[in-house]
Amino acid sequence: MIADVLLVNFIEIFLFEFVIKMDTISPNYIYRKSLNLLKLIVQIARDFLFAFSFPKLVKVFFKDSFTPAKRKVFADIETIIPSNKNGPIRILEIGVGPGYNFEFYPKKCRLIALDKNPYFEKIFLENLQKHPDIILEKFVNECAENMVSIPSNSIDVVLTSSIHCSVDNSQSVLKEIERVLVPGGRYYFFEHCLDEPGTTRFKWQLFVNKIRLWQWTLNGCTFVDFKHEISKFGVFKYKAKRYTAESHSWNYLVRYLIAPHYGGCAVKGK
Ligand SMILES: C[S@@+](CC[C@H](N)C(=O)[O-])C[C@H]1O[C@@H](n2cnc3c(N)ncnc32)[C@H](O)[C@@H]1O
Repeated sequence: MIADVLLVNFIEIFLFEFVIKMDTISPNYIYRKSLNLLKLIVQIARDFLFAFSFPKLVKVFFKDSFTPAKRKVFADIETIIPSNKNGPIRILEIGVGPGYNFEFYPKKCRLIALDKNPYFEKIFLENLQKHPDIILEKFVNECAENMVSIPSNSIDVVLTSSIHCSVDNSQSVLKEIERVLVPGGRYYFFEHCLDEPGTTRFKWQLFVNKIRLWQWTLNGCTFVDFKHEISKFGVFKYKAKRYTAESHSWNYLVRYLIAPHYGGCAVKGK
């Protein structure tokens, strides 16, 4: 798919624009087109590298440090009654990555997995094999801000973990989540975020945001105020709280920055 996009861009720029319209195009136009192509190549390389390195980073830095908190947040997914009385519940996990949340799903469920990075699909499918009770409907390579292939009012549970830190627009994502949920459907979230304003950690997180350290090394990730985002959205009724996974191991600094999370469950009105 990525190869197709590159090929189309290449053909457009070098065959159509340069050869056919050679005498009419300005250098400025060539510069803009080439810059766009370069940006696309850089983004593809970053996506590929991130999908390759993320599972290794998780192993080295976090292991299972967030599992107890996630278990609490996702605890009652098991109790949800499916909107389709004849089938298991239908879950949409957005920004599914390698699929590290399967262990929190109900025993039997149908899954639509969505991620904007297509390079996660391979490791996602490998991990899925360890959970034969999860029926995969499809893996969708789309942006959460515009989930065109997910029909409205069709999903019992939407789940996200650590994606609002790298989406372009949290409000658009929340709007899409509300659209695809069935009335009474639930949105479970466990998002890493900024610490309480004024704390030392909050200041360090702002500093790391400012120098774009996290953003460059982790494919667009920043420390965000998800507590504020979901409250500003204002459409859901929700219960949530802060979780802080402290650690004193050798990788203390990384864990120190990423420790604060905001997790909970939001319900779409009937
Ligand atoms: C930090 S990873 C977390 C992966 C997984 N949720 C987890 O907790 O292990 C963020 C994931 O969100 C995906 N993502 C980021 N922005 C997205 C967007 N706008 N639409 C869809 N997926 C997105 C990334 O490609 C990546 O797989």
